[in-house]
Amino acid sequence: MQNNLQHQQADWWQQGVIYQIYPRSFKDNNGDGIGDLPGIIAKLDYLTWLGVDAIWLSPIYPSPMVDFGYDVSDFTGIDPIFGDLTTFDALVAQAHHSGLKVIMDYVPNHTSDQHPWFLASRSSRQHPKRDWYVWVEPKPDGSPPNNWLGSWGGSAWEWDATTHQYYLHSYHKAMPDLNWRNPAVKDAMFDVVRFWFDRGVDGLRIDSAQRIMKDPHLRDNPPNPTPKVTSYKLLGDYDSQLHLYDRSHADNHAVYRELRQLLDSYSLQSPRVALGEMHIFDWQEWASYYGQQLDELHMPLNFGLVYVPWKASAVRQHVDAIETALRPGAWPNYVLDNHDEPRITSRIGPEQARIALMLLLTLRGTPTLYNGDEIGMHNVEIPPQLVHDPWEKSLPGMGLGRDPERSPMQWDAGHNAGFCPPTVKPWLPIADDYQQVNVAAQREDRHSMLALTRALLQLRRTTPALSLGNYAPIAGVPEECFVYVRQSGEQRRLVALNFSGSEQHIHLPALGNGFIRISTHLDREESVDLASLHLRSDEGCVIESADGQTN
Ligand code: NOJ
Repeated sequence: MQNNLQHQQADWWQQGVIYQIYPRSFKDNNGDGIGDLPGIIAKLDYLTWLGVDAIWLSPIYPSPMVDFGYDVSDFTGIDPIFGDLTTFDALVAQAHHSGLKVIMDYVPNHTSDQHPWFLASRSSRQHPKRDWYVWVEPKPDGSPPNNWLGSWGGSAWEWDATTHQYYLHSYHKAMPDLNWRNPAVKDAMFDVVRFWFDRGVDGLRIDSAQRIMKDPHLRDNPPNPTPKVTSYKLLGDYDSQLHLYDRSHADNHAVYRELRQLLDSYSLQSPRVALGEMHIFDWQEWASYYGQQLDELHMPLNFGLVYVPWKASAVRQHVDAIETALRPGAWPNYVLDNHDEPRITSRIGPEQARIALMLLLTLRGTPTLYNGDEIGMHNVEIPPQLVHDPWEKSLPGMGLGRDPERSPMQWDAGHNAGFCPPTVKPWLPIADDYQQVNVAAQREDRHSMLALTRALLQLRRTTPALSLGNYAPIAGVPEECFVYVRQSGEQRRLVALNFSGSEQHIHLPALGNGFIRISTHLDREESVDLASLHLRSDEGCVIESADGQTN
């Protein structure tokens, strides 16, 4: 496959690895049980030691915290829980000084109902900001204007008793949707982008990116004729419709083309990146967000690995589908989990989580690593009385709650795992294995998940074949294995992953001899005859192949 990218042509977001920080749960510096910006600053050294290239911060804007920051009440401020703009500027300066880029979460689809824009908009039908949100007359019988559903249950319309119209909310009723068909909204939201770029921010992760434009005629969604889920997990009533009119509207593309022009104007100083949160699993449609001329998002985020069955054949099919869907020049990316999805360790077990990590860090494309995955954190069961997540509160017991993957980062074996002072109650419970699973302990253990993460990051950074090289899957291997080659110029690396708990033998006589650079077990670096490669249970290896040894 001719998908090789030369080092000189690659931007930082193509060569680098993005580390997602969920600020509430990363490090509490001021002792209120909630993570904050000084906490992140205190851990920048750790992140450079680890070897990531960029941090993406989930929202830190002022917010009533109905959705823990995704309900923004001021797009150009910092919530006092996290710090202030001065601290933010210090964070950016120190991150840059350490060679780390900073990506902000940008939330264009909705605001908090406490945002001054919405307060103005709902104050009267005549207010100039009325049309900044989607306000609609009821049907003659007083019911909502159409059948659209909120993602977290119930109608997507909320009645306003003062002005006698409904407003649209794709999520919680405290998160009204902005009306991007109003040019003033677009201008104001583009100013928000300028505000952060002028402060030195290097990129945006665009929240709910496929939702900003809706059908202008507000047509009813048709019923979903099959029992098939409309997404990758069961979402309850939301699955009863095909979401033709309330998301993924073709007009999204024009907005992203314009946004890209704005980014490109800043990229003349230093390259900026736009990542889009896209829950789209039709890969042609997903890839359309790169733009016909690669003039929209740099990377629509790819959540395929979040739901694909954890089998070598299924994962290979997914990777091949992504490679096939990309038009020339479009750069792939992969996500294993995040603050919305079960942690990979809980989904596939700690042994296979090491395989997943090797996969993520050796595929062609930018990896996004969720904080805590580098030490193998797992989901924490949250008793009903401690539930925070609005999704779990709306639809309890369906397994949709996201608190379990948001538990505090485990830094050391002290009480509260070094996340917050021992006398303080953290906002979510800490995992009960924190005395074993923590950064300090794993730094001392040369076989730990942390050691593996760091070694893989270092290998990727120093091996152009792994960071930028092309990708070609290898056929004729046992069905429990996924084997592929990454190649840049003469440099060639074979990645062999055993997705099973039993030993596997791989026969690739045409490839001659190789040298194992790293095993997921972190216990062998040795020559191998690829005619007879033996992988232990749950083992993956990155192998320098014979023709690559001169590099
Ligand atoms: C996607 C975010 O990742 C999620 O956490 C949030 O609840 C929704 N968008 C709404 O903003």
